[in-house]
Amino acid sequence: MNASEADVNGVTESIMRLVSRQVWVVTSGSTTGRGGLLATWVNQASIDRENPLMLIGIAPNHHTSEIIDHSGRFALHLLCKTQITTAFNFANGSGRDRDKFASMSLMDGHGERPILQECHSWLKCDVTSRLLTGDRTYYWGQVTDAGQNSSEPPLLDSEFISGCDPTQLKVLRADRFADVELQRPLNEAFHADLPDWLRP
Ligand SMILES: Cc1cc2nc3c(=O)[nH]c(=O)nc-3n(C[C@H](O)[C@H](O)[C@H](O)COP(=O)(O)O)c2cc1C
Repeated sequence: MNASEADVNGVTESIMRLVSRQVWVVTSGSTTGRGGLLATWVNQASIDRENPLMLIGIAPNHHTSEIIDHSGRFALHLLCKTQITTAFNFANGSGRDRDKFASMSLMDGHGERPILQECHSWLKCDVTSRLLTGDRTYYWGQVTDAGQNSSEPPLLDSEFISGCDPTQLKVLRADRFADVELQRPLNEAFHADLPDWLRP
């Protein structure tokens, strides 16, 4: 069944609600500070087992992207299914306004890739390429170190959302709305600069 043009956004939303992805905590540290956020845009980017490579999509208005740009390093963490509070801590607001690591135990809190002591598993990555596409910056990261604390399935975005209380959900909705307001003009400016054949 095809959707009419007016329905396309609603049907897309409905389809994407059926897709559940892992949530990752992306962290980075530099001489300018440390930052972290919750992300679903994290993928394996190579099939070469000798050279593990990850690709992440981070909005350029986020504090964490500023820190990654400065350090050229990031760490990725999967969370256990019980770690809703940790996931919310990194999804809530900006690291420009508060230290998101204040209540976290860290394996290495002062390096270029702060590692959470309590997590499902972690990967340390060095940025090898970077591509800015308006409302997302994509970073390819070569994995240089890794650790695994659990072999159970990690926390999914649907489980995170259903584990949040109504107050937390209100905060996440407000953050998402504010992000879209900031990111839409970035995307429009990026597309306005593209050659005609690349415009939607
Ligand atoms: C389920 C979920 C998935 C998210 N995925 C991403 C993502 O893939 N990339 C991104 O830049 N932000 C993503 N966000 C938003 C950031 O986690 C959030 O805006 C964060 O507070 C930004 O923090 P910072 O400004 O301290 O870096 C996601 C939020 C939620 C709730």
